Amino acid sequence: MQPIKLAIVVGSVRSGRVGPTVAAWVRGVAEQRATIDVVDVDLADFRLPDSLVANDDTERFIRTIGACDAFVFVTPEYNHGIPGPLKNALDTVKYEWRAKPVGFVSYGGLGGGIRATEQLRQITAELHMVSVRDAVSLHRVRKRFDDEGGLDDAAAVDGLGRLLDQLEWWAVAVAGARAARDYPG
Ligand SMILES: Cc1cc2nc3c(=O)[nH]c(=O)nc-3n(C[C@H](O)[C@H](O)[C@H](O)COP(=O)(O)O)c2cc1C
Repeated sequence: MQPIKLAIVVGSVRSGRVGPTVAAWVRGVAEQRATIDVVDVDLADFRLPDSLVANDDTERFIRTIGACDAFVFVTPEYNHGIPGPLKNALDTVKYEWRAKPVGFVSYGGLGGGIRATEQLRQITAELHMVSVRDAVSLHRVRKRFDDEGGLDDAAAVDGLGRLLDQLEWWAVAVAGARAARDYPG
C-alpha cells in the first residue's frame, strides 16, 4: 500500500509564532512511520484573500489540499477561538477537504487550545471531514520545548501516536470508499 499523504497545517501566521516548533515535533513523530508521507502546509506561505476572491495562491492552496489524504491542524488558541487566517483557509477550500480525516494538535497558555480544537470539530464537520477522537493539547507551550525542539511529555507523545493511528485508519478507509463510489455531498 502507498503511504498516505499527511498535511501538517500550521494554523498561526503571527510574527514570533510557536506554531512551526509544534509542527516540527508532529512531523518528527509522523516521519517515523513508513506509512506516512508528510506534506508541510504553512499558512504563512499563502496569501489567501479575506474576500475569498480567488488568486494564484488560492489555486495553489486548493491544489495542495486536494493532493493530501489526511490532515493534522496545528493550532493555537487566540481569545478562546481559532486564528482568523486558519478559518479563512478553511473557508477558501470547498470540495478538497471532503471525505478526508483530520486530527488536532492545539496549544496555548493555560487552556492548551482545547477550545480551538472544539471549534475545529464543528467547522470540519460542516466541511464533510471526519475528525478523529484523540487529540493533543499543549498548555503553557512556550515552556515545553527544549532548544532542539524536543518535548518531554510522554502523554503528548502517546496521544499523538493514537491520533496518527486513527488518521491512518480513516485515510485508508475513505480512500477505498471514495474510489468505490462518489461521496454524496
Ligand atoms: C491574541 C492572542 C490571544 C490569545 N488568547 C489565548 C487564549 O484564549 N487561550 C490560551 O490558552 N492562550 C491564548 N494566547 C496565548 C497563545 O496561545 C500563545 O501565545 C501561543 O504561543 C500562540 O501561538 P503562536 O505563537 O503560534 O501564534 C493568546 C495569544 C494571543 C497573541
